[in-house]
Amino acid sequence: MTIISPSVLAADFSKLGEEVNKVHKAGAQYIHLDVMDGIFVPNISFGPSVIASLRKVSDIFFDVHLMITHPERYIKDYVDAGADLITIHYESTFDVKGTVALIKSYGKKAAVSIKPATSPEVIFPLLRELDMVLVMTVEPGFGGQKMMPDMLKKVRAIREYAKENGIDVDIQVDGGITPDNVASAFEAGANVIVAGSAVFKAENPEKVISDMIATGNSI
Ligand code: DX5
Ligand code: ZN
Repeated sequence: MTIISPSVLAADFSKLGEEVNKVHKAGAQYIHLDVMDGIFVPNISFGPSVIASLRKVSDIFFDVHLMITHPERYIKDYVDAGADLITIHYESTFDVKGTVALIKSYGKKAAVSIKPATSPEVIFPLLRELDMVLVMTVEPGFGGQKMMPDMLKKVRAIREYAKENGIDVDIQVDGGITPDNVASAFEAGANVIVAGSAVFKAENPEKVISDMIATGNSI
């Protein structure tokens, strides 16, 4: 299923609740919440209290992308804040398997993300445990960057491996996705699209979202 997950990093933080509800109304099925600690990535965003506040004003599916070191320390905080799906980075912990199991023990969906320099093969032994894989299409840390088309080879490799092994898994792409390049991401095998600037900075977010969903459904 094609899912659009607008990243709030590109939203107006002075009215975050309204921004989330705006894109939900416009047809987005998920909202992508980028958590950054200034250590795993060179930027700081927000933590569980902001997410808990948003949970009070919105019932959209919360797709929480943790760009933090040793995320196992904070999984419960994000569950309590209202996360529906939690993505951790393969590069952020020694215990990826254990952290995935911890997320699932709370009845939440679990995903693992790989940075541009990480090979897709590291995901294969984990794939059966995952609800989603996130292939970063930019170096994590900032919104508004250009998509790295080479990363789509990794999407293709993971989709092929999943198919060969009969594994049903979502593949998400994140970073620099626009209406102009989204078809290439779908063609590679992605089905969950993060789009920050492309949605929040658009004059007509509803059209961007519905066009992206139509593109995904046509491939
Ligand atoms: C980057 C974040 C992304 C980012 C996407 O580290 O993970 O989610 O906000 O924003 P755009 O779509 O503007 O590249
Ligand atoms: Zn993200």
